[in-house]
Amino acid sequence: AMLTVQPRDLTGRSIVISAGGTREALDPVRFIGNRSSGRQGVALAEVAVARGASVTLIAANLEVAAPASVTVRQVSSAAELKSVVDEAARGADVVIMAAAVADYRPEDVAPSKIKKDQQGDELSLRLVKNPDILAGLAATNRADRVVIGFAAETETDREEFLRLGREKIARKGCDYLVLNRVGWSEGFATDGNSIVVLDRAGDIVSEASGSKASVAGHILDLLV
Ligand code: CTP
Ligand code: CA
Repeated sequence: AMLTVQPRDLTGRSIVISAGGTREALDPVRFIGNRSSGRQGVALAEVAVARGASVTLIAANLEVAAPASVTVRQVSSAAELKSVVDEAARGADVVIMAAAVADYRPEDVAPSKIKKDQQGDELSLRLVKNPDILAGLAATNRADRVVIGFAAETETDREEFLRLGREKIARKGCDYLVLNRVGWSEGFATDGNSIVVLDRAGDIVSEASGSKASVAGHILDLLV
């Protein structure tokens, strides 16, 4: 629940937000996943709706409920996420890639459950790279659409953390990159977050910490 009254400054804007973490199937019962809960993406969706935007939330295995009044499209793997994001992005004013996308997927997906007695004492998995959804959107962006990426880094030194972010936004080509620090107990399943936002030039355009809702508000302020 939002405790503050929100300005209606995103009225008429269409925003696509991906949230959560993708899962890459190994067999019908197992997957390779990550620890993203979807909380920051859901908070963005919630605040954007409260500010008047029409929001499509592309939900990858969320650990939290999607907010009311957003259009939800459920996906699971990176490939599914890509096809739904690419389609939804066509009519959008803003695309925010808050989802944690698997960088690699198993080369082969077993059609039935992998059995121990057919594997012996070691099991090797061969993984192949997934396409970069954000870089793809940025490469084909229009002048009237803003594309925002997220980057969760474990680097603890601030200068090195910023350097990684500058390198990443240059590589991705998106308009803004929201950087946050993650660790074994930081960033994921918590309500709080602490972010630095870089623009294409690598300059810091916003810095915020607090609840995921208040951090969402700072990110949306950049759009206004
Ligand atoms: N992303 C994406 N498609 C991928 C991987 C990442 O769209 N296949 C997006 C994420 O949603 C996020 C941004 O790219 O908005 C940065 O993700 P991150 O994992 O930090 O970047 P990578 O380029 O994958 O670099 P790293 O080696 O640090 O994981
Ligand atoms: Ca990655």
